[in-house]
Amino acid sequence: MIRQLIPAIALAGAAVGQAHAADLTISCGAVGAELQLCKEGVAAWEKQTGHSVDVVSTPNSSTERLSLYQQILSAHSSDIDIMQIDVVWPGLLANHLVDLRKLGGEDVVDGNFQAIVDNNTIDGRLVAMPWFTDAGVLYYRKDLLAKYDQDLPETWQAMTDTAETIQQGERQAGNDKMWGYVFQGRAYEGLTCNALEWVASHGGGTIVDDQGEITIDNPHAAAALDQAAQWIGTISPDGVLNYTEEEARGVFQSGNAVFMRNWPYAWSLTQSEDSDVRDKVGVTTLPHGPDGTSAATLGGWNLAVSRYSEHPDLAVELVKFLTSEAEQKRRAIVGSYNPTIKSLYQDPEVLAAVPFFGKLYDTFSHAVARPSAATGDKYGRVSNAFFNAAHQVLAGDTSGEQAVSGLQHELERMKRRRW
Ligand code: GLC
Repeated sequence: MIRQLIPAIALAGAAVGQAHAADLTISCGAVGAELQLCKEGVAAWEKQTGHSVDVVSTPNSSTERLSLYQQILSAHSSDIDIMQIDVVWPGLLANHLVDLRKLGGEDVVDGNFQAIVDNNTIDGRLVAMPWFTDAGVLYYRKDLLAKYDQDLPETWQAMTDTAETIQQGERQAGNDKMWGYVFQGRAYEGLTCNALEWVASHGGGTIVDDQGEITIDNPHAAAALDQAAQWIGTISPDGVLNYTEEEARGVFQSGNAVFMRNWPYAWSLTQSEDSDVRDKVGVTTLPHGPDGTSAATLGGWNLAVSRYSEHPDLAVELVKFLTSEAEQKRRAIVGSYNPTIKSLYQDPEVLAAVPFFGKLYDTFSHAVARPSAATGDKYGRVSNAFFNAAHQVLAGDTSGEQAVSGLQHELERMKRRRW
């Protein structure tokens, strides 16, 4: 398996035009403009230092990326020096990653949000450098809300009603492809993020609480999942059951959805020259349920150096360059990636390029974490169980109540006495 996967990655490297033997290899995400931005940053460092770097792309689904990394790391392969790792993985991968404070200096994370630094610190070791942070937001069509004289929805019910009204009106006016709401409904990490937002914003908790108690079996959580199931085939296409971020963005950006749940990266793309909805889009906080307040799942990606790298010091240099203030500023302006360096949220050029960074600052600083810290190296299994349960409810195979009760038992078994 490893044998096949590693050449597959090497091929991806070749495909981006770097087939020669390089000093370092970095794996980056490829969602939206991610790969392009990573390549540009790397090229600037190559020019500055004279080193050469292979940039390889990884699958878009965080779940698939994780299993790829786990296979590469458990084989102790030195093929990839630097890995872009999800905010929920430090606990899962820590043993395979170097301590960046040791190699990069005590002040290496100064100026970053403390919560992310803490998240990336496992047993006192800084295993990943914050690169960009993420939180779920609601994209909406300003022009359509105005045309139908609708307010911005604050509750999920209001969003459902508004989506229905506009979808119906637009279909009658001739756009039979119009949908009310698109989101990430495939059975993968992205659904964990969406479903956590539904549950938490209904007052249903965060699956497992900070103390490690499993809390998912409650009526608020059940109601949240039932409500989402009602969207399928009404305001959301059946296909949403297989959507990741990019499928949702594709529908929204071609003008065929009123609302979309996505991450900030989608902003710069919806505003690009070839976007059908350029200048027609607003971004606001996600709605909430009757007994809760708006909740945005905390996301984000970090750069880590593999313990099996043959050039760890050089790798750390590149990580420092890519996560520096200047590079984070560029990525914020060009790609609407949320910086992890606090001062950039006061930077006039950043705020002009992405106005909602200022307006939604509270959303970003109060984002709801997935229970990765509490569940440690079992987080991957916890998330899998949660997104599968949520997916079954969306698909109409079970009720919210049955799903949360079944999940509670499954997680209790997984936990045994402690995580
Ligand atoms: C985004 C988030 C990441 C999350 C993923 C799920 O990339 O930044 O944290 O796991 O979406 O699809």
